[in-house]
Amino acid sequence: MQPAMQTITTEIADGVFRFSTFIPEVEPNGLTFNQFLILDDEPLLFHTGMRGLFPMVRDALARLMPPENLRWITFGHYEADECGAMNEWLTIAPNAQVAHGMTGVMVSLADQAIRPPRILQDGEVMNLGRKRIRYLDTPHVPHGWDAGLIYEETEGLLFTGDLFSQYGEAAPLTEGDIVGPAIAGEDVGGFSALNPNMGATLRRLAELTPRTLALMHGPSFTGDGAAALTALATDYDRRMHATARSILSGQPA
Ligand SMILES: [Fe+2]
Ligand SMILES: [Fe+2]
Repeated sequence: MQPAMQTITTEIADGVFRFSTFIPEVEPNGLTFNQFLILDDEPLLFHTGMRGLFPMVRDALARLMPPENLRWITFGHYEADECGAMNEWLTIAPNAQVAHGMTGVMVSLADQAIRPPRILQDGEVMNLGRKRIRYLDTPHVPHGWDAGLIYEETEGLLFTGDLFSQYGEAAPLTEGDIVGPAIAGEDVGGFSALNPNMGATLRRLAELTPRTLALMHGPSFTGDGAAALTALATDYDRRMHATARSILSGQPA
């Protein structure tokens, strides 16, 4: 018999909590789904998880704060694992509001969220109390026209969404390599929308010099975030060049 799914909570930085559920059925060897709570005067949840995970994520959050006091809901892009349960959260938290970039709000969220979302401009900073998050548009990186990320400035913590996704079970925290597993994950999953701006977008994120990278599908990494982002950018450039060469030559990549 499979063990019951569990949502494990880890404090990855002062007042920043990771809720992690490993789903072994995802091919080839399981995938973690992580949501992050910034516990502050205006508590913020980054990723809601799918609707099916809502009871587990709500219970995990309820061990830290009353769920009805949640203020902000943000996420990388419009997909079930990023925001499937947003309306469940909006229903139990009367003062909660979805906040996302202009594209996401115009294309999906103004219609799909049960209350009007707040539009965040690229680079806009939100004060949550002690913490400050900066919203960054990352269109099509790693996928989704509406893609965007948040960076918590006081902790130097970049929430990377689907970037660096890796398969398999991982410890909550690591100082080890996250680039190799991300390259292997991309080889297997092919989840990124390869585009010419990918390397440049990742290098722009590297300029933040984050000290922690909080992965949606993988561990939270502490160390040289800029080096990891630059190495991932180099690998996406390699994929782009190989694809362009194959188009120009008429030979398979
Ligand atoms: Fe995604
Ligand atoms: Fe995801």
